[in-house]
Amino acid sequence: GGGAPVPPLSANPTKPAAFVFDIDGVLVRGPAVLPAARTAMQMLLSGGAWRAPVCFLTNGGGVSEARKAEELTSWLGVEVGEDQVILSHSPFRQLAPRLGDVPVLVAGRRDVVAVARSYGFSKVLTTYHLAEAFGRAATPFGAAPLTDAPKGATRSGGPCPVRDLGWGSEAAPIRAVLVFNDPAGDAWYQDLQLLHDVITSHGVPLRPHPAPETAAALLNRAPPGSRPVEVFFSNPDLLWANDHPRPRFGQGAFAAALDALHRQTTGGPISGARWFGKPNREPYRLAERLLLAQAVRLGLAPPSVAEDAAAAASGGNGGGGAAARFSAIYAVGDNPAADVRGANTAGPPWVSVLVRTGVFEGREANSATDPAHIVVDDVAAAVEAARHRER
Ligand code: G3P
Ligand code: MG
Repeated sequence: GGGAPVPPLSANPTKPAAFVFDIDGVLVRGPAVLPAARTAMQMLLSGGAWRAPVCFLTNGGGVSEARKAEELTSWLGVEVGEDQVILSHSPFRQLAPRLGDVPVLVAGRRDVVAVARSYGFSKVLTTYHLAEAFGRAATPFGAAPLTDAPKGATRSGGPCPVRDLGWGSEAAPIRAVLVFNDPAGDAWYQDLQLLHDVITSHGVPLRPHPAPETAAALLNRAPPGSRPVEVFFSNPDLLWANDHPRPRFGQGAFAAALDALHRQTTGGPISGARWFGKPNREPYRLAERLLLAQAVRLGLAPPSVAEDAAAAASGGNGGGGAAARFSAIYAVGDNPAADVRGANTAGPPWVSVLVRTGVFEGREANSATDPAHIVVDDVAAAVEAARHRER
């Protein structure tokens, strides 16, 4: 109880309900799988009484959707497929048709280089490549250790893309910075320094520097005809919940630091920075499409093109009619600023369900800043509340 008024159920009783689960702070905390997560999944995914489309929507990443599905399968004890997983960087795939053939700088840990290539980016650079090509003076307080580098970020015998192929030169400027997930701790300094270089130099980080060094010089140094670098963040979370008692800094904290430095050196924010990841709309639209495909596969929704077209024409909520095919989409999350705000902004039939096992764990009845439709103790109680409501 104590939640914001829950939107009315659809008048059409034949529509199925669907679920979207956040991962950190809902299903796991650090390496620990929450017992309620297994209970919840047994209710939904073990061929039990209630069949409903399910997706997992996280602001985490660094691995492929298929790899995360394998992790979820082993954590939860139920089969999870890659078409049920939306990671913070999953929406970056849609940028590849435009940016797939130009040098892009990818930041993050684990498998981000391989993931970027699999999305269709063919000229992937990391700050490890830049640090290697530029030498010690580029990161005078120390480069990040190569052991922290994402796989494939270091040259193994092949040409250095910066030195030997000229990526990041006047002839082949870096067109975009894509922050796939949080840089490793030791890479924060390297990434802040080198991303700032790439952004303020319009993608040519060794471009000769105007003297004297002033904020105005940095702001105005881009030669006529050069293009600003496009900057994409995949996860705005300032905070997230692992197994430490207090919330930890997330990618949003890294972005805030980069933006603060940019403001101080140039006098203005990073222009044209774009944000994907919850609470932004892209992952919700992706979830609606994946849920509908599942509903059709499960025989819970007819594969009716006509109905889709009608729903799309009537405006719907911008999801191409996919959302309108559900009585409710329960978005279960722990972070009011990400999960609740995202579901509330997505609009009906999305129903925000806030649990107390992660970022939000206080005794207050609801989040003061982003009140959820439903507030319960944990993810098992969330599924129970939804079942009660759908009956
Ligand atoms: O780095 C992951 C974190 O910011 C949020 O993960 O699963 O709670 O969206 P999640
Ligand atoms: Mg979470």
